[in-house]
Amino acid sequence: MAANWTPASWRDHEGRQMPEYTDAAALAAAEAQLGTYPPLVFAGEARALKADLAKVAAGEAFLLQGGDCAESFAEFHPNNIRDTFRVLLQMAVVLTYASKLPIVKVGRMAGQFAKPRSKPTEVIKDVELPSYRGDIINDIDFSPDSRIPDPQRMVRAYNQSAATLNLLRAFSAGGYANLHQVHAWTLDFMGRSPWARKFSEMADRIGEALDFMKACGIDADTVPQLQATAFYTSHEALLLPYEQALTRRDSLTGDWYDTSAHMLWIGDRTRFAGSAHVEYMRGIGNPVGMKVGPSLEPDVLLRLLDELNPAREAGRITLITRYGHDKIESGLPPLVRAVMREGHPVVWSCDPMHGNVITAPNGYKTRPFERILAEVRGFFAVHRAEGSFGGGIHAELTGQNVTECTGGAVDVTEQSLADRYHTHCDPRLNAAQSIELAFLLAEMVSEELAERRKAAA
Ligand code: TRP
Ligand code: MN
Repeated sequence: MAANWTPASWRDHEGRQMPEYTDAAALAAAEAQLGTYPPLVFAGEARALKADLAKVAAGEAFLLQGGDCAESFAEFHPNNIRDTFRVLLQMAVVLTYASKLPIVKVGRMAGQFAKPRSKPTEVIKDVELPSYRGDIINDIDFSPDSRIPDPQRMVRAYNQSAATLNLLRAFSAGGYANLHQVHAWTLDFMGRSPWARKFSEMADRIGEALDFMKACGIDADTVPQLQATAFYTSHEALLLPYEQALTRRDSLTGDWYDTSAHMLWIGDRTRFAGSAHVEYMRGIGNPVGMKVGPSLEPDVLLRLLDELNPAREAGRITLITRYGHDKIESGLPPLVRAVMREGHPVVWSCDPMHGNVITAPNGYKTRPFERILAEVRGFFAVHRAEGSFGGGIHAELTGQNVTECTGGAVDVTEQSLADRYHTHCDPRLNAAQSIELAFLLAEMVSEELAERRKAAA
């Protein structure tokens, strides 16, 4: 267990990107209330994810992590949960089929509510108000009352997370994720995309393989792995009063776990030396992600790794790189070399979203799909050249037919951004773009594995 650590020790460190609650009594009441509520996940599940991620670190599995930029109270609906889950299943199937590796599936779901912001205030037509920081903190509506942080929102976010997680658990184990259903996961509006046809052809081949195996006596009744999947949850551990309230001691091991999700990550803006967020994450037993970008020097990264993973446990740390399509190939190699030299067993995952945001001439914040793909290609090129394993993808996506990122086979133009732009924060890939990304990833991972086999021979 971490030395000199308690679930509250982050309070003696510098905490950035957290709200100042005006009503201290109301905050204390919400924290106390959450502190009595049941954990959302069990420590044993977090350990299972860590073991799965250790396989990724060793090049024997691949991590697929995705979901909304920010979940919201307004978009809380079973269809949204189902559609994001099913597009992740589709991506997982594409990746499993091409790479023949197990895919570790992690949703940015059931708790992804708090948002770091580049500016503390927002100005619209000469009115200046505090920035929106996610539904767990304040309201996106642009009015003075809405932007006041309300601690009871933490309780509402907990309840929404519990209901979301409940449905995800039902889908993953209750039959929806059965491989025999692979055709049924295709979304109706995908019809126009050439990638929908490619998916359907692959699903036919999987169906044939399953029929063949069934004749041999292997089917979902005899092999439960065919009808269920392990699906984990994750979010940025930004709002530490909430995370602390859900931090519990595991009855089996005596270790502390953040039971708000299986995996938590630290953002690019909160991973500085001396940060409250690093202090908090150091003491929990969950797998921990860290966003890594152009502002991070190799020696600072190594110090952070020593602090967060002194025992060098494989599966504990996932480094999520977010450089931008034009910076990844120059920025990433020094970090990869430093980590390899020091022998830290990390998962390298590619976030091709956050370094590729632009503002379209009509004012919409968007991400060109070609740049997203270019960053993915650059990520794999770096890992191939360095002899490390590019082992994961971290994407903001939705199963909904939104128009938030431009490009893709069913072209979203800058003009059509206004049609269905629903995100509460950053622009997300829609279902068609997500499947297209999965096929590119499948190609990249297959090449990567072929080269590793060649190098090993
Ligand atoms: N249990 C295996 C896995 O999760 C196979 C599987 C079942 C699967 N349903 C799935 C794989 C849905 C991908 C998508 O990998
Ligand atoms: Mn985002």
